[in-house]
Amino acid sequence: MSTVAERLGDRAGLAVRALPSGPRVNLGCGPVMPKGWVNVDGSRRSWLVAHATGLDRLLVRLGLLRASAFRPGIVHHDLRRRLPWADDSIAAIYAGEVWEHFEYEDALRLTQECRRVLKKGGVLRLCVPDGVEFWENYLAIFFEEQAREPHVRDASRLRRHVQMYFDDICTRPPGLKSFGHFHKWQYDEIQLVDLFERCGFQDVARKPFGVSRIPDIGALERSDFLIVEGVKP
Ligand SMILES: C[S@@+](CC[C@H](N)C(=O)[O-])C[C@H]1O[C@@H](n2cnc3c(N)ncnc32)[C@H](O)[C@@H]1O
Repeated sequence: MSTVAERLGDRAGLAVRALPSGPRVNLGCGPVMPKGWVNVDGSRRSWLVAHATGLDRLLVRLGLLRASAFRPGIVHHDLRRRLPWADDSIAAIYAGEVWEHFEYEDALRLTQECRRVLKKGGVLRLCVPDGVEFWENYLAIFFEEQAREPHVRDASRLRRHVQMYFDDICTRPPGLKSFGHFHKWQYDEIQLVDLFERCGFQDVARKPFGVSRIPDIGALERSDFLIVEGVKP
């Protein structure tokens, strides 16, 4: 049976290359751990589940920790470090809402690492929040309020949007919650396509939600954000 991508490719008259065989890797998986994927996360809790499952269960039983979203089998790895796979060994890499958690230089190194470990014809697919959409929403509120008479304008709508940016998106939450939970970069289609191309990927393009060269992308893609895919030549 053909995949959605193959059917779309056929319709558009495009040849859709099959993925090479080999492991498929889900970087920064969080609670999204589909079967058939190597699920990787670098949080402290994923370390506990990966290296001390019994202790994790005990701490949950004692009421000291909430039940973990991670399951045994998770691979703990800090993605700012070299990826733990050989050159040309991986068929596909997916990362949903992860790249924005890195400083730009770290994201560049990680994208280069993805190219190193992918096989020829292997696919990297990234999904990140779209900066354009965020600021379009801000501008839409701004122009709506600006069109009103000055005495009825509501500045609190703009304040909420700006506050969301600083408090929920960019500001480091205190203490143990800080790992990877705030954004350090904001992408748009032009920057993200450029990042892939700077790292030597080919056939780089923005993709619709769920449409991919990766056949079972529906098993792990959750957000209809900015999605870009490229192929290792
Ligand atoms: C917003 S969650 C996304 C989870 C999941 N991929 C999804 O689509 O819902 C970001 C994930 O990236 C992980 N992460 C952030 N920085 C990381 C790093 N340096 N190394 C490994 N994982 C990291 C976090 O632990 C978290 O699980």
